Amino acid sequence: MTRVFSGVQPTGHLTLGNYLGAMRRWAAVDQHRADSLFCVVDLHALTMDHDPARLRRLSRQTTTLLLASGLDPDVCTVFLQSHVDEHTRLSYLLECVATDGEMRRMIQYKEKAAKERDRGGSVRLSLLTYPVLMAADILAYGADEVPVGEDQAQHVELTRDLAVRFNQRYGHTFVVPRVTLPGVAARVMNLQEPARKMGKSDESGAGVVYLLDEPDAIRKKVMRAVTDSGREVEYDREGRPGVANLLEILAACTGGSPQALAGAYESYGALKKDTAEAVVEVLRPVQARHRELCADPAYVEGVLRDGAQKARAMARPTVDAAYRAIGLLPSVERTELMDVR
Ligand code: TRP
Repeated sequence: MTRVFSGVQPTGHLTLGNYLGAMRRWAAVDQHRADSLFCVVDLHALTMDHDPARLRRLSRQTTTLLLASGLDPDVCTVFLQSHVDEHTRLSYLLECVATDGEMRRMIQYKEKAAKERDRGGSVRLSLLTYPVLMAADILAYGADEVPVGEDQAQHVELTRDLAVRFNQRYGHTFVVPRVTLPGVAARVMNLQEPARKMGKSDESGAGVVYLLDEPDAIRKKVMRAVTDSGREVEYDREGRPGVANLLEILAACTGGSPQALAGAYESYGALKKDTAEAVVEVLRPVQARHRELCADPAYVEGVLRDGAQKARAMARPTVDAAYRAIGLLPSVERTELMDVR
């Protein structure tokens, strides 16, 4: 069976963009058609300035929201990256296969590092090596497919390069994965700056609908979305990005097509009103399930414990094989453990 791996960073509150662009599809399609793992990548959240208490809260909340959005731990594996040591064990080996030039060419690194330096801050070394840890996430599980947003495609490309290089040098060890990008309509843009994606780490939340926003907050944000000059409701991504974004959100929530929906509206106001209600309705069951799960923290803990156990069992043989292939002697302790088995 195809194996799917994806990860979410607990660096902010999850947004409508995360839900429509990825999570909804993971729950409705991926977990049923493939052997899939969804990982809250908490180690990645340490690559930028962070607050430990906030990270703990967000790691729990991100997990709970993944479950609330329909990921079923009986069908797929939901876990925290830091609970499975194989990620960092493998990451080091891959650092011995990757080059520093490769790392410095990563677009996301260049952007994030430049921003940090502009602010007068320093750049953590882990920000540079982050793509290697991401490669380890994927390769440890022999994933065939990695569903991510376009901004992560370069990292998956690097993962492929590292897998091929390792296999050529040290013998076949890793599956070479491929990226799977979501459809166009799944790209939700910031309501205030429709040229930018609706990200969970955006500084101002005015253009970002969070999954846990109250219905009235959602309505306000959608009603205040920037639209474009002009009056007719037309679907034109280049010329009218604000209106196109609303049409795409409405289409993603109701199952229509943005082109067809455009014809049904006479004014921006009516389009905003319907879009707001559609978003409120799409998020209603997710929020209800989230409330139930929050009332049962022992259940969520149990999911994470079982998830880590399942994940570890999948990753360990591959990572052990990589240790042997690269020339490290098996530790006596590990060998003995194997003999007992
Ligand atoms: N880097 C990804 C992001 O920022 C998150 C991530 C980490 C990931 N490891 C992964 C995604 C492995 C897919 C597979 O969105």
